[in-house]
Amino acid sequence: MEKLLCPVCKKNMTLYGSCLRCENGHSFDLAKEGYVNLLTGSKSGAATGDNKDMARCRKSFLDKGWFEPLAKGLCEIINRENASRVLDICCGEGYYSEYISRNTRAAVYGFDLSKEMVRLAAKRKCGARFFVANMAAVPVADGFADCAIHLFAPFCDKEFARALCKGGVLVSVCPGKTHLWQMKQALYAVPYENEEENPTLEGFDLEETFNIKADITLTSPEDTDLLFRMTPYYYHTSQSDKQKLASLKELTTVTDFYIRIYRRK
Ligand SMILES: C[S@@+](CC[C@H](N)C(=O)[O-])C[C@H]1O[C@@H](n2cnc3c(N)ncnc32)[C@H](O)[C@@H]1O
Ligand SMILES: [Zn+2]
Repeated sequence: MEKLLCPVCKKNMTLYGSCLRCENGHSFDLAKEGYVNLLTGSKSGAATGDNKDMARCRKSFLDKGWFEPLAKGLCEIINRENASRVLDICCGEGYYSEYISRNTRAAVYGFDLSKEMVRLAAKRKCGARFFVANMAAVPVADGFADCAIHLFAPFCDKEFARALCKGGVLVSVCPGKTHLWQMKQALYAVPYENEEENPTLEGFDLEETFNIKADITLTSPEDTDLLFRMTPYYYHTSQSDKQKLASLKELTTVTDFYIRIYRRK
């Protein structure tokens, strides 16, 4: 657990038995699943990350391998970079952390604001380490990682730059223009393409952008429902439109991931 910082006083923490403790005596217990909750202070309702149902859907869907082309693409970048420490920022339930742990030589450190997400991630027992933490206060020393992955999650560029070493890479992924296009066609009369934006990030140069695309065919309404529940559309769609998707026996749709590779200056 080298170079982990205490979230209270920012001193180094050391593992004593099943407890991480800093030199000022702040301590954080390892949960039975093996993760550490590094959140401090009272949690307001908005600051708890994704809930149990979202975590369960994400895990059930991703574990079936539907987004594996993206996971493979991430490993290719990590191997090409010869990265030794990868931060999985907003790691969710740990599908990508596990994939990278098993298919690269890098040590993986995943963290997320949602305790339920991190609990599921730690249960994978894949060699990656998991923390409940806010991306605005990543609990690692300056320049700790040589790679960070950031998938479908909010930004905090200053903090990402601090946690990465000079020359390290931030691989940021968001939905590409045509992501889940046929699912959107089934739901809406007039579907819209996603925008592929390239935000300027403080402390980084944008080095490369590309798409990873693959068609998937979901042959059970349960899988289609899991996919739908993972998207923001689920929360902004009328009951009658939801019904259109639920009535499909099978759905073939494109998955389209937009990858941006930023280099730490
Ligand atoms: C759409 S999910 C993506 C999860 C994972 N990267 C994946 O692709 O499967 C977004 C995740 O960001 C987490 N999150 C939201 N705000 C956060 C914050 N401030 N700090 C850390 N995690 C956060 C949520 O709890 C949720 O797990
Ligand atoms: Zn401390």
